[in-house]
Amino acid sequence: MTIDSDKIRSDFPILKTEVNGKPLVYLDNGATTQKPQSVIDTIVDYYTHYNSNIHRGAHHLSNLATEAHEEARKTVQSYINAASNREVIFTRGTTEAINLVAFSYGEAFVNPGDDVIVTEMDHHSNFVPWQMICERRGANFRTIPFDKNGNLRLDVFEKLLSEKTRIVAFNHVSNSLGTINPAKRIIKMAHDAGAAVLVDAAQSVQHVEHDVQDLDADFYAFSGHKIYGPTGIGVLYGKESWLDAIPPYQGGGEMIDQVSIEKTTYNKLPFKFEAGTPNIVGPIGLAAAIDYLNTMPFEEIRAYEDDLLEYGREQLLEIEGLTIYGNADQRTSILAFNIEGIHHYDLGTLLDTQGVAVRTGHHCTQPIMTALGISGTVRASLALYNNKEDIDALVSGIQKVRKMLGE
Ligand code: ALA
Repeated sequence: MTIDSDKIRSDFPILKTEVNGKPLVYLDNGATTQKPQSVIDTIVDYYTHYNSNIHRGAHHLSNLATEAHEEARKTVQSYINAASNREVIFTRGTTEAINLVAFSYGEAFVNPGDDVIVTEMDHHSNFVPWQMICERRGANFRTIPFDKNGNLRLDVFEKLLSEKTRIVAFNHVSNSLGTINPAKRIIKMAHDAGAAVLVDAAQSVQHVEHDVQDLDADFYAFSGHKIYGPTGIGVLYGKESWLDAIPPYQGGGEMIDQVSIEKTTYNKLPFKFEAGTPNIVGPIGLAAAIDYLNTMPFEEIRAYEDDLLEYGREQLLEIEGLTIYGNADQRTSILAFNIEGIHHYDLGTLLDTQGVAVRTGHHCTQPIMTALGISGTVRASLALYNNKEDIDALVSGIQKVRKMLGE
């Protein structure tokens, strides 16, 4: 293992912060990751030296900004192995990317009586937009359940698929359970039934395989801020044939070709889907984050995180009365749990007093909580800068809370 955890930690300045007089133990990476100094410096450099609007400027700064923005698109293209940079659309985040596809694909291809399939472990962002388009188009909203360990019921999925299925949307990794869904298999099954597929990669692109051509995803969405980049920038990958076939999502600015009173024609890809002045620095910061990740072999990042996850599970399971949610065959980065007799919110708040940052609640996955019969969980979510000391701090924090509450 060549992952040098001390070196990595020194690259993230926020990890030196104290919270409530204690060293920060940041375990809320599923919500957002921290940024390495190189990403922070890249953003400061942009605003300090070449902030300008892009694509249409006739001046030096505009050319510099356009070049950096478009180079960033190529960095993303290479990271996810898209066949062309025309297939990389910049959005505000995963949510906007999924809404774009739900709206544009839905308008063009979802008709009354058709089926749209999602899973019961999807984030609301990959659930509600599909419900909305089904309602609008008179289509049927179908869901794939999961078993008690958090594995998707592919036997049920197989039965749901039919010639009426227009699109299947699923998360590669569950933000609440950590399940790694068998993406290639799901995509193949959907394609065999003649359906398109969208992969919500918000929680997977930073932890597991992310080669869109190997997966054969039609659409693939993720957010910059969960992969060590800035907030407010996300990516929608779409196969060029699909992006050509669906209508634009928003009108104005960059997305036009010719506008007249009689008719407007649209710009070529990727600009057809990028209306208005885009987030210019977002992709540049995201590319810096990808460059940072690319300094380490991805298999080693994955092995390091897997090892840490299993260590965390072992340590947590030693705690009396603790239940872990999410015991799927393939899993990554998420430690979701409750302790008998302690509300998840109280536990999270008391952990914060010890400098330990976790998330509590339903994690925007109310259907998961309903299926599990709980109102929420405590969730510790890992990133590549976490280490065993962070897990030990979490465990000792929980033990202190138990004592405080007289458990
Ligand atoms: N979707 C993010 C999470 O799971 C915010 O925490």
